[in-house]
Amino acid sequence: MSAPATSPTPTAPAGLPLIGHGLQLAREPLSFIDSLRAHGSVVRIRIGPTPAYVVTDPALTRRVLVTDAAHFAKGGKIIDALRVFFGDGLATIADGDAHLRNRRLMQPMFNKAHIADRGEAMIDQVHALVSAWPDGQPRDVFADMNEVTLAAFLVALFGADLPDHLAGEFIALMPEIMKGTIRQTILPPWATRLPLPAHRAHARRVAQLRTLIDEAIDHRLSRIPHAQAATDDPSPGDAAGCPHAAGREQQAGLFDTLLTAREPLTRQQLQDEAITLLTGAIETTGTTLAWALFEIAGHPDVEQRLRDELDSVCGDRPLRHSDLDQLPYARKVLQETIRKYGPAWLVTRTATRDIDLGGHLIPHGADVVWSPYLHQHDPDVFPDPDVFDPDRWTPQTVSSARGSFLAFGDGRRKCIGENFAWAELQIILATVLRTWPKFERTSVRPPRRQAIVTVKPDNLTMAFSRGH
Ligand code: HEM
Repeated sequence: MSAPATSPTPTAPAGLPLIGHGLQLAREPLSFIDSLRAHGSVVRIRIGPTPAYVVTDPALTRRVLVTDAAHFAKGGKIIDALRVFFGDGLATIADGDAHLRNRRLMQPMFNKAHIADRGEAMIDQVHALVSAWPDGQPRDVFADMNEVTLAAFLVALFGADLPDHLAGEFIALMPEIMKGTIRQTILPPWATRLPLPAHRAHARRVAQLRTLIDEAIDHRLSRIPHAQAATDDPSPGDAAGCPHAAGREQQAGLFDTLLTAREPLTRQQLQDEAITLLTGAIETTGTTLAWALFEIAGHPDVEQRLRDELDSVCGDRPLRHSDLDQLPYARKVLQETIRKYGPAWLVTRTATRDIDLGGHLIPHGADVVWSPYLHQHDPDVFPDPDVFDPDRWTPQTVSSARGSFLAFGDGRRKCIGENFAWAELQIILATVLRTWPKFERTSVRPPRRQAIVTVKPDNLTMAFSRGH
């Protein structure tokens, strides 16, 4: 593993003296990152003066994320920028004991049984929102999908009896928080510290979000029997253990797991975790759904098969959570959407010492970049990678492409919300299809892919109608 590196690491062509490959990354990020595969299994790029090492071979990405993860710490500029506002939530906290402890505490929130407990409440919420869309009017599908995703997530996290005004305030605030967060991650670090009005507004909104989260936590604490109020000076007690197993109360929220943990978290830690979950959960899932609807609208055969599958499972009755496992074609459509669009396209690690990676020396402190998008567009694994083809997901491909389908990451920092994401994606897609017998794209030109934190559509409007 730490044997001397043998091959010189290729540098991506066309870097400019001061900005390195910044221009390509800004103008054509997806084709630039995808082009690096042709230059080698590890390729050096420069972002401004700083070198970064992009891993293009999935076997080496596995070393970074899994087998040699101890030498590739979670970190890099994007994480540093996020930590300023989100503190030490699960996604931004450094590798180590605190991460392991919090991950162990939170893992039960996202097991299949707990998600299933919240399934019917999520279905009701999604149905209420989707069926309220006016018939036949063009809608911004990306905004809609983020809103529905957030509303369903709030019901799952904080319970179906979260007061309406709180849910409404979350929904009004989050789009601006996401925009501000994205701006923080793409600006150079010195620019994020300037006292510009946009930065001050973002800081204000994050403070507002913390207040809302506090109110949601107080709301849950008032509902959980024997819950220990989390304070800044927590003292362990004989707290309740698993709230779901104990009561299976209809209104429970997944966050109850943290509020009743045997080792209580401080209020600040609870806020950090809630902000992390909210931001981690919305745009990834919302983007996927927007692209899925775009692709389905362009593939009438796919749409028909989805509708046939839903009809054969649900008939005339409403969707139930237990139906989700009976919808394999819908799962393929969503998996193919995730493969084609990322939705995360660039994730970073930092080398904690000089280390050999596939014969290339990665110096101590260097940024190491891996990209789900790049691996999921490898033509050797996914022939014609730009073609949307849900049928490519046969049981054989699911198993042979496992190392290259890295949308949820791998190893100890793998997405903790993957099970939840699949359930939410299926619920929202099925509900849109069942509520609206017809939908079509209304944007004049096809949306362009904007790779920022996720790969999102720049402009996608569609109209949904009840008429056949
Ligand atoms: C399509 C949906 C989603 C995708 C593609 C996705 C993707 C990812 C990826 C690639 C990572 C790993 C990042 C790394 O290695 O540094 C990650 C981590 C994470 N995700 Fe997701 N995610 C999705 C949905 C969700 C949802 C619904 C939640 C919350 C319920 C969530 C919460 C998190 C958290 C907390 C982490 C950090 C885990 C850790 O560091 O221990 N994600 N996600």
